[in-house]
Amino acid sequence: MLGSLRSFIKMVPTLKLNNNVDFPVLGLGSSQAKNGEMEKAVKEAIDIGYRHFDTAFIYGNEHEIGAAVRAKIEEGVVKREDIFITNKLWITFLRPDLVIPACRRSLQAMGLEYMDMYLVHFPISLKDGDDLWPRDENGKFIPSESDYVETWKQMEECVRLGLTKSIGISNFNTEQIERLLANATIKPVVNQVECHPYFNQSKLKAFCKQRDIVITAYAPFGRPGSKAPTMKQGVLSLLEDPVLLEMATKYNKTIAQIILRYLVQHGVVPIPKSSNPNRMKENIDIFDFQLESEDVAVLAALRSWNRLNILMDVKNYPFNIEF
Ligand SMILES: NC(=O)c1ccc[n+]([C@@H]2O[C@H](COP(=O)([O-])OP(=O)(O)OC[C@H]3O[C@@H](n4cnc5c(N)ncnc54)[C@H](OP(=O)(O)O)[C@@H]3O)[C@@H](O)[C@H]2O)c1
Repeated sequence: MLGSLRSFIKMVPTLKLNNNVDFPVLGLGSSQAKNGEMEKAVKEAIDIGYRHFDTAFIYGNEHEIGAAVRAKIEEGVVKREDIFITNKLWITFLRPDLVIPACRRSLQAMGLEYMDMYLVHFPISLKDGDDLWPRDENGKFIPSESDYVETWKQMEECVRLGLTKSIGISNFNTEQIERLLANATIKPVVNQVECHPYFNQSKLKAFCKQRDIVITAYAPFGRPGSKAPTMKQGVLSLLEDPVLLEMATKYNKTIAQIILRYLVQHGVVPIPKSSNPNRMKENIDIFDFQLESEDVAVLAALRSWNRLNILMDVKNYPFNIEF
């Protein structure tokens, strides 16, 4: 049984990003939460020991994450520099002149002077502006001509202006990363992508590692209950997998803990979403054991599924090549 919040405080180790910034190796995700859910969750998470929080303009909860962090700073529980906040530029703001205003708008929503990491949420670009899912009369997404290479120059400007300490990318494939690196002054520090034992990303991981780019793993549990259109029919939830269950019994841990440990042991930074204090405690309690290499090999060979992501027929859609 896990203890009360006060007696249960876990600290998360950090790794060094390619710009020498410390990055906690586990964070708290926040997408698809109900209104008001994440403010409470982030306060509880800080008490438990979480220091790394993931949000995005599109999640509509930046203000909650910011309010929770500010409250805990005011309470004297943490200082701003103890906290690592990732936010993301939405795909309707990739046009260069929109990037800095979007970053400032997110900072204003959070009530913070800077973010720790700002990511380009997707390499694709839709019609610029505040309609976040612009579609034409036939329901087709309306593209924009904005190109992520030009966007990136303004992301770099966000660093120079002190609006964010680090910049990175999300959902970029290897060709897009190569093209970005060829044109960048500041290298992305992370690529945030779907990553879990059913979708290991081993090739993308190796590619990014060679370029000193850390993989942040979203949907580390495969987003249980997801009805994503690309998922294979009849696939078990990762959290019910019999192989993982056997391993969990062996280590006296839960399946969720085995998955997170597996990712962390590979230098991948998972950001499981939870707003349930017991599950938040469970997910952070992974730093007192090590998976043996034979078990790592079993996890690496687990069956795979298709991506969770929605399919889009637009320029720069990243998932038309393998990785
Ligand atoms: N960059 C991108 O394009 C992108 C895309 C998707 C997600 N993300 C980020 O990655 C984060 C994580 O991904 P996700 O939220 O899609 O999926 P996920 O973390 O795989 O799954 C979240 C779900 O798992 C449940 N859960 C959490 N811990 C659990 C445990 N120990 N046992 C059983 N169930 C547990 C949560 O419910 P409770 O809250 O009730 O515990 C929640 O319903 C997101 O929240 C977001 O911040 C980024």
